[in-house]
Amino acid sequence: MTRTRSIQNIALIGFMGTGKSTVGRMAADALRFTFLDTDHVIEEWAKKSINDIFTQDGEPAFREWERRIVEQLTHRSKTVVATGGGLAANEANLASLKSHALVVCLWASAERIFERVKNHSHRPLLNEPEPLAKIKSMLEARGPYYRQADVLVNTEMRSLREVAVQVVHQFHLAQAAHR
Ligand code: S3P
Repeated sequence: MTRTRSIQNIALIGFMGTGKSTVGRMAADALRFTFLDTDHVIEEWAKKSINDIFTQDGEPAFREWERRIVEQLTHRSKTVVATGGGLAANEANLASLKSHALVVCLWASAERIFERVKNHSHRPLLNEPEPLAKIKSMLEARGPYYRQADVLVNTEMRSLREVAVQVVHQFHLAQAAHR
């Protein structure tokens, strides 16, 4: 972290099924910040579900929506943002988030992620015959981006509430360091 960074927000990044939305809501409540979920914003803007965006418009169209949200986020303060799992797997998006937010990555193993997402059908990238293999290969490809977060929190040994407490604690530490 450089001294010129201004940490106004928290951005939660990490793979699908790591608890970003739940943790984000809890952290926002604790800090009395606004909570924003990038997938929900995109669904509102596009007036269709994430699944429909992927099937009707294709993944590049979805990534373009993400890019636009990332741009909008630079104007925000006192906000906790839960990002879609692929949003931070992009250097420009990651750099932009870091310019205003403490970037926290929620981490879990492929096996644990699979357990958490296997009964859900709203994630188009995992609607395929070998979801565990897909999770493993995507996690490997995205690891180098996720590891650039300011803070990495392993979600396997803690409840989501404990993860949220960690996130808030790290935010206070970062703010004190940049005061
Ligand atoms: C995606 C993750 C999803 C959603 C979309 C693509 C990804 O968000 O943005 O299905 O590329 O990992 P969650 O991480 O909230 O499930």
